[in-house]
Amino acid sequence: MRPPIEILLSEEMIRARIAQLAEEIAPRLREDVLLVTLMNGAFVFGADLTRALARLGKSLTLDFMVLSSYGSGTVTSGRITTRMDLSIDPTGRQVLLVDDILDSGNTLLMASNHLRDKGAAEVLTCVLLDKPARRRVPMQADFIGFEIPNLFVVGFGIDYDQMFRELPFVGHLRAS
Ligand code: IMP
Ligand code: MG
Repeated sequence: MRPPIEILLSEEMIRARIAQLAEEIAPRLREDVLLVTLMNGAFVFGADLTRALARLGKSLTLDFMVLSSYGSGTVTSGRITTRMDLSIDPTGRQVLLVDDILDSGNTLLMASNHLRDKGAAEVLTCVLLDKPARRRVPMQADFIGFEIPNLFVVGFGIDYDQMFRELPFVGHLRAS
């Protein structure tokens, strides 16, 4: 049985915030920016942010990385592996790294170090959601959609055991 979901961020709130985020980010972008979306959780956010930036006239090169930090369930393992690496060489380029949630910070820290190790000239980071109360390593995102409390959230690409990615809003699992 799928647990009940309570809406935390509506479709309209997310749409409006992504348009604003693009306005914040656009002036910081160079001509040849490489936008890297972390899969799978950020695929919806990455797609919307990409098009919001394009509406502002930005041209982007797109790439994707698949990392895994969570097994199943709601507790982080702390161990992160690269399951699919970039297919475009980031050497000398400005990278905009996009993820769904900044939680302990391990994933974004590891991914940005990885991009720098591969030669990226600059790594800007953008997350849809930030849970500052959960931070375990010193990592901040350059651009944040929404700061949220310490709740386990799903929807807008984000899953609980592969469920709920398809929801068009962000909700949280209600204790039932
Ligand atoms: P971190 O490495 O602990 O910062 O975790 C970041 C990753 O954990 C995110 O990219 C998400 O995929 C996942 N994650 C963190 N919090 C949640 C949540 O509330 N729901 C679902 N996935 C989460
Ligand atoms: Mg993720």
